[in-house]
Amino acid sequence: AAAAAGASRYTFDELSWGNDEKHHIAEGYNADILLRWGDPITADAPEFDVMNQTVEAQLKQFGYNNDYVGFTALNDEGTRGLLCVNHEYTNEEVMFPGLGRQDRDGFKGMTKELVDIEMAAHGGSVVEIAQGADGKWALVRDSQYNRRITPFDTEMVLDGPAAGHDRMKTNDDASGLAVIGTINNCAGGMTPWGTYLMAEENFHGYFWTDEVDADGKPDISGQAEAAQMKRYGVPGGWYAWGKYYDRFNIDKEPNMPNKYGWIVEVDPRNPDAKPIKHTALGRFRHEGAETTVSKEGKLVIYSGDDNRFDYQYKYVSGGKITDETAVFGSSLFSDGTLYVARFEEDGVVNWLPLVHGEGPLTAENGFNDQGDVMIDTRIAADLLGATPMDRPEDAQPGPNGTAYLMLTNNTRRTAEQVNAANPRPESSFGHIIEIKEDGEDHAATKGTWSILVKCGDPTIEEVGAQWNPETSENGWFGSPDNAAMDADGRLWISTDQGSGWGKTGKSDGLYALETDGELRGHSKLFFRCPVGGELCGPYFHDSGETLFLAVQHPGTDGTKDFKGFERNSTFEDPATRWPDFDPAMPPRPSVVVVTKQGGGKIAI
Ligand code: FEO
Ligand code: CA
Ligand code: CA
Ligand code: CA
Repeated sequence: AAAAAGASRYTFDELSWGNDEKHHIAEGYNADILLRWGDPITADAPEFDVMNQTVEAQLKQFGYNNDYVGFTALNDEGTRGLLCVNHEYTNEEVMFPGLGRQDRDGFKGMTKELVDIEMAAHGGSVVEIAQGADGKWALVRDSQYNRRITPFDTEMVLDGPAAGHDRMKTNDDASGLAVIGTINNCAGGMTPWGTYLMAEENFHGYFWTDEVDADGKPDISGQAEAAQMKRYGVPGGWYAWGKYYDRFNIDKEPNMPNKYGWIVEVDPRNPDAKPIKHTALGRFRHEGAETTVSKEGKLVIYSGDDNRFDYQYKYVSGGKITDETAVFGSSLFSDGTLYVARFEEDGVVNWLPLVHGEGPLTAENGFNDQGDVMIDTRIAADLLGATPMDRPEDAQPGPNGTAYLMLTNNTRRTAEQVNAANPRPESSFGHIIEIKEDGEDHAATKGTWSILVKCGDPTIEEVGAQWNPETSENGWFGSPDNAAMDADGRLWISTDQGSGWGKTGKSDGLYALETDGELRGHSKLFFRCPVGGELCGPYFHDSGETLFLAVQHPGTDGTKDFKGFERNSTFEDPATRWPDFDPAMPPRPSVVVVTKQGGGKIAI
């Protein structure tokens, strides 16, 4: 049928939808496990012993819940390189034996020992990998580059307008220039010169207060910073870290939340270089940080604030990319302008600059300097009249000044709150917006926008989906989260349905989505997750012949009969034991490598 509307640019036979305890890939492709939670990544790391976990071991082993994956080559052929992987969060009830969900409520079972291990399981990993003569990739375990980056003990520095600001000073850092670690690193990006960007997303969830109201809920009414904290959801109280560490307790360290919610740059080629939090890119629940280059040669970074009714942002450097600036810790990360998007009803998008002293961003409104504007980016964007979106997830720049925005879902938007760019009330399945920047230039402050697809089942009228009519029952999806461009400028989308999984019955997966021609809006399923897992990555090697995927939290959002959404998996009784299928091993978040059998570019 697709032939009638022109040939698909993606040459593979689509996979059937469904869900079970395994992963599935389109016929003719390999999907091999490369790295699993707990795998030793340094020469001196102990083998994984799931029943005897320690913080010392976890600091040298692959972390939990792999999300962003990036790669930078170490040789001209690209057969050796550094894989950069975020470890977003932990699912304690599946990580630790004897710790059911009931123990997590109120953190009854969370001892300091377990908190230390889960802190060490967060953050990121940099590992060298190499491709063998058989085309298979493997970890180079004795590489000098291999390291973990964690919120447990990795020292970092800050630069940009908020670095050294009074509101960044804490008991352990009078300078306001230093911080320990990074948290909730969701998606990210690689710079054109091969450094690694980690986005700090749901940082609010890690902060704690001893003050609770009559209902036992966190009470911040006594905090001088209450209004600012509230806009960011601080403290979230998702983890017990603040019980044991003052730095995560806002009663002891009210400025500490200001040191999180940034974009962190890591130099994967220099394990001794302290990662840098670049405050010129703003503070919010950064989903990702995909980079591109403007017509003039400026660095451009798209980043969404993944929260219901929050905003889409873009950063444009002041200077251009040159031999001098294409370096770790570049001035390009502090000399630029952060913009927030206003999607006009007529299909225009205006990028509004967040600059102190301009418009409402003045002392009368609480902004004494550019540092305040960056620390309170959300509040500044509120005043500028940015468009409240349906949870902006990954934003993927494409060729010719295009960008694709994943709006994952927003079941709380009412009929009165819809706008042209977020047109559905109670949106369970989300949509994707295509931006075309003016002059095909990613640095433009104006462009046009259109909706590429409205997700969900096109056969159910009330869903209000919009797909290319050639899309099959296998091809439509819900809740787009991550996106990637392959070497040929084609778009790929991975999904994270969360509880929405119960509404589609489909496992999360990877889809090839047409952006141009008669098949615009046509989607095909390429890879499927095991039950309860969401799909992260995806990342294409420059050759187009290797695709890195990350299966996050396998087994945790599904039931053992693969029927719907439930979060009752435990270490002892998970919905799947992917990828080991060892009765002594719980499911393990893992990075998967996709290659074509016999070699060659993927889907060409
Ligand atoms: Fe961590 Fe917005 O997903
Ligand atoms: Ca995400
Ligand atoms: Ca991406
Ligand atoms: Ca996700």
